[in-house]
Amino acid sequence: MIVIQAKDYDEMSKKAYESMKIVLTEKPDAVLGLATGSTPIGLYKEMIADYKAGAVSYKKMTSINLDEYVGLPVEHPESYRSFMNRNLFDHIDIVKENTHVPDGLAADLKLAADEYTAFAAAHPIDIQILGIGANGHIGFNEPGTPFDSHTHVVELKEGTRRDNARFFDNDIDLVPTHAVTLGMADIMNAKAIILLASGAGKAEAVRDMVLGPVSENCPASILQTHPNVLVVTDEAAGYYLN
Ligand code: GLP
Repeated sequence: MIVIQAKDYDEMSKKAYESMKIVLTEKPDAVLGLATGSTPIGLYKEMIADYKAGAVSYKKMTSINLDEYVGLPVEHPESYRSFMNRNLFDHIDIVKENTHVPDGLAADLKLAADEYTAFAAAHPIDIQILGIGANGHIGFNEPGTPFDSHTHVVELKEGTRRDNARFFDNDIDLVPTHAVTLGMADIMNAKAIILLASGAGKAEAVRDMVLGPVSENCPASILQTHPNVLVVTDEAAGYYLN
């Protein structure tokens, strides 16, 4: 695990993009593992700007997103499909049919989850972008999720729903109670991983991920055992690493 501490959010996004760009330019048909949340938005802006400058094309690429809320209509502005369209896909030349987000509306969620796992296994992720939850979750794999898990439906912890209420008029009751997420084993299958963390609210999770024991109590700690992980924090999120 390599850890870079940037001074602020912008520098964090730029450093992450520098590393990601190596894969994007080396592999025109790369499979991108993508994340939602406020943390990767700056990285997505870097991707868009560089695409507009003509440096990278996404025409032959495939993307696989980590997670989606259960029961939220796709058109809802806070569905992760809407988020990805708005913050990235609508601004680059990736073919929409090649962008994949778990189906949180499937009649049979278990079957849809198994199909998503099979799709991810058949399209190994070249570069996985991750954020981190304040409790150390990655994707929506909450503390206690088995490290050998695959795509599954999760009941969201109250703290996670509270954190995400800012996107739902600050009303926790509007935040879905369940989500579907790639599992820990699926994430660990990525060839390379870049995890971004910004803000003081992530400092303890970053400390436990980097310095703590590898434990299901801090899902992100499993990344210590992955051969190719870059962690990029801003100053506040990296506070305990100095
Ligand atoms: C959300 C997402 C995660 C994300 C994390 C942090 O619940 N499911 O994929 O990394 O929480 O979000 P943010 O970047 O907004 O702090």
